[in-house]
Amino acid sequence: CGISAYIGHREAYPIVINGLKRLEYRGYDSAGVMVYNNGTMYVSKTKGKVSDLEEIVGQDEERKKGTIGMGHTRWATHGVPNDVNSHPHLSKSGNLVIVHNGIIENYDTIKKELISRGYSFKSDTDTEVLLNLIEEVKVTEGCKLGKAVQLALTNVVGAYAITVFDKTNPDEIIVARLGSPIAIGVGKDKKEFFVASDASPFVEYTKQAIYLEDEEMAIIKLGKQVKVHKINDDSIVEPTIQKLQMSLDQIEKGGYDHFMLKEIHEQPKAITDTFRGRMLADKNMIKMSSVDLNLDKFLNANRIIIVACGTSWHAGLVAEYLFEDMARIPVEVEYASEFRYRNPIITEKDVVIAISQSGETADTLAAIKLAKSKGAFVYGVCNVVGSSIARETHSGAYTHAGPEIGVASTKAFTTQITVLTLIALKLGKANGSLSDQAFKDYIQKMNRIPKQVEELLKIDDHVKSIAAVYKDAKNCLYLGRGFNFPVALEGALKLKEISYIHAEGYPAAEMKHGPIALIDENMPIFVIATNKGHYEKVVSNIQEIKSRAGKIIAIVTVGDTQVKEIADHTIEIPDTQEALTPLLTTIPFQLLSYHIAVMLNKNVDQPRNLAKSVTVE
Ligand code: G6P
Repeated sequence: CGISAYIGHREAYPIVINGLKRLEYRGYDSAGVMVYNNGTMYVSKTKGKVSDLEEIVGQDEERKKGTIGMGHTRWATHGVPNDVNSHPHLSKSGNLVIVHNGIIENYDTIKKELISRGYSFKSDTDTEVLLNLIEEVKVTEGCKLGKAVQLALTNVVGAYAITVFDKTNPDEIIVARLGSPIAIGVGKDKKEFFVASDASPFVEYTKQAIYLEDEEMAIIKLGKQVKVHKINDDSIVEPTIQKLQMSLDQIEKGGYDHFMLKEIHEQPKAITDTFRGRMLADKNMIKMSSVDLNLDKFLNANRIIIVACGTSWHAGLVAEYLFEDMARIPVEVEYASEFRYRNPIITEKDVVIAISQSGETADTLAAIKLAKSKGAFVYGVCNVVGSSIARETHSGAYTHAGPEIGVASTKAFTTQITVLTLIALKLGKANGSLSDQAFKDYIQKMNRIPKQVEELLKIDDHVKSIAAVYKDAKNCLYLGRGFNFPVALEGALKLKEISYIHAEGYPAAEMKHGPIALIDENMPIFVIATNKGHYEKVVSNIQEIKSRAGKIIAIVTVGDTQVKEIADHTIEIPDTQEALTPLLTTIPFQLLSYHIAVMLNKNVDQPRNLAKSVTVE
């Protein structure tokens, strides 16, 4: 879910609404806004997107007037997405209002207790329960809102980022965090403050941001320093004001129809940015202080365990092939959600690499905490600077892809692979698994990747014409081997996510153990058949498909002739080392999913039921 709030001298409504639009990647089942004006809180909320909310508020100027406001865009956890369950929620007395991101696990017990004290509830949400607990504490203790929030939160089990306001004391807003991110934008001369799940809603107003840490709460008062203290022991924390690096054009579409398309096209630059200062191609060197400083840990590791979710998990699978091939270090790749709950064997001799675009994924964060508690060294690969995972890990590297807004991950994936390739090369060189010559060859080939991606993006029209042929397919199969097996998984995931067509990724040779039964003349099969690695084997797999009338769309290396003869369509990628091909083969799959989704009239940037940043488990 996304939170956006404002207190200051400007009209709050447009600021909050624009903020919510930028945060819609975090969830878009329902949206709501509260604007405070002269003793009255106007709450408008609805199932649907922020644009639906705007439609409901319409020209009702009264609902938009006021210089204090808070809004929410929701990804439902408790209670179906409907108008009543949407945030903001009001307390029983109608004096308090809240927006909340996260889950209150013990809400049922608290709810029963509150019901016994005469409370009743309009919604099915855990959030309304939390707010009424705050109100109950405030009334019984006779304290101010800040104290009541603090005391209530000490009774809560779960995760939250909350923003609370009390109309009887309208010059302050209370914010608190445990497990879900929240940032405070500090305006000029403290005459205005912004609160949001990330800094994107307020970058055009201020570059000064305070990111709350877990178990911290802040009292925001106009004209005053933001007061931050610990929730559990009341101790004061000196807030660190960070200077935002993000700019407005980075988070806008810049002429593209969708963020996803923009982000696909940003990949040459994103990969170059990931290299910057790290890969010194002219010196045949890779400099990464986070690896250098911990080299002994990596080189003496019994094994590397990679934990991640979704697309980041696929990047982890590519890394397994890279690390084992280049550095000869055993690797296991785990879904963070499985790893954390299955009593895994972790020792001090293990290195755990956590991969996460957002740096906020709840399961990945929990897996990190578990690994740390067992004494493992934990290294993070994140895109969002200052994110929870970036802070929780012992060390790490940022991908520097720039903000990724489309829910379907594209440039985050290729830059994750880029960082992981650099690490694998560095370790391979350091432990002697890679000869100087092999290392040098890789660096030179790696250096050409951004240009090659740029070239590859020119085939967009060709991919679009293939998309037009297969857009009505009901099932699709994606096949790859070796380094490109995870790319097949990622290709299938991309199609599923945004076009809602069922797709499965498989290692090409496994096809005969199951999926082959599905093949008929209606089944498109996307096969990665680059000219190195397992080419001949993949060609045999393609023959097996053809003899069962399946349709073949093959990704081949430029100049290929053999596959071209048998495939229904081919897409050429430039030549490179087999280990580096995932950075290229993934591009046509991204474009293909994009075009199919557009042709099917689906919401590319905000596919149904998904959220970009999943801060609940
Ligand atoms: C969600 C997103 C995916 C993403 C996954 C992991 O499911 O929709 O695109 O791959 O979370 O997110 P992370 O931020 O940890 O990479």
